[in-house]
Amino acid sequence: MSWQQSLKNKTVLITGASSGIGAAAARKFASEGANLILLARRLDRLEALSAELEKQYHIKCLPIKCDVTKLAEVQSLEKILQKNPVDILLNNAGLAVGTEKIQDADPADWELMIDTNVKGLLYLTRLVLPKMIERDSGHIINIGSIAGHGIYEGGAVYCASKTAVDVITRSLRLDLFGTQVRVSEVSPGLIETEFSLVRYKGDAVKAKNLYDYTIPLTVEDIAEIIIYCASAPPHVNISEVVVWPTLQAGIGKVAAKKQ
Ligand SMILES: NC(=O)c1ccc[n+]([C@@H]2O[C@H](COP(=O)([O-])OP(=O)(O)OC[C@H]3O[C@@H](n4cnc5c(N)ncnc54)[C@H](OP(=O)(O)O)[C@@H]3O)[C@@H](O)[C@H]2O)c1
Repeated sequence: MSWQQSLKNKTVLITGASSGIGAAAARKFASEGANLILLARRLDRLEALSAELEKQYHIKCLPIKCDVTKLAEVQSLEKILQKNPVDILLNNAGLAVGTEKIQDADPADWELMIDTNVKGLLYLTRLVLPKMIERDSGHIINIGSIAGHGIYEGGAVYCASKTAVDVITRSLRLDLFGTQVRVSEVSPGLIETEFSLVRYKGDAVKAKNLYDYTIPLTVEDIAEIIIYCASAPPHVNISEVVVWPTLQAGIGKVAAKKQ
């Protein structure tokens, strides 16, 4: 018998499923037979992914346009979730915007990072938790970052937001003490996604150079780890997985790949 529990017919809600880690996790959960509720702002991408996964894996997929920074939009999901109780919430939507030092940065960038990475995660968590507690089962998986365990120049607010994700994750386990609701965090180092394109505000050359220089993690690596956490037996709560590319030894310490 396998150590891992089956994810077949579980309902998994993934934020930020239109790209990167979220889309890869959706593919992996679907391949395990889970049904999906996919959120992001770019509905066209969610719809295309949903159609692909329903066809390939014969699962149910619900693509929903939702900006996680908007509390009213998040709360309006309540009816849908009453019909589709969530077994696993993957709080993945997130971003870094800009690389300026505090003295030069645009406060609008700070607001976007804090609203998405911290408040969005809290809004979704608040929405699904009461039902999980009522059923005494469920799993919240938060995507943190190595930026939640260290700092770098020009990264103050992103690092602060990911430190907040770490603190919220650990606090949540205390708030849920005595229940069988699990809370995990996956904290990756450098992964090739659209993340850098967003951070560099659309500068595709800069974003590509960052990844071409070295051997970053892939979204499939992270999806595997998420599935590992989610499919652990119900009495096992993997608190955090911190994962680095082999060529990365610290924040800002990334080695070049050999030519
Ligand atoms: N890439 C890395 O090196 C790295 C390392 C450590 C941690 N992370 C974390 O991994 C997570 C996923 O990022 P990624 O690397 O996969 O980047 P990505 O490819 O840019 O994906 C980010 C996702 O978040 C969604 N999103 C952003 N703002 C949103 C909002 N207001 N409402 C709803 N969805 C929103 C985006 O969808 P829409 O634009 O369609 O809304 C997109 O699907 C983030 O939390 C990030 O901080 C990334």
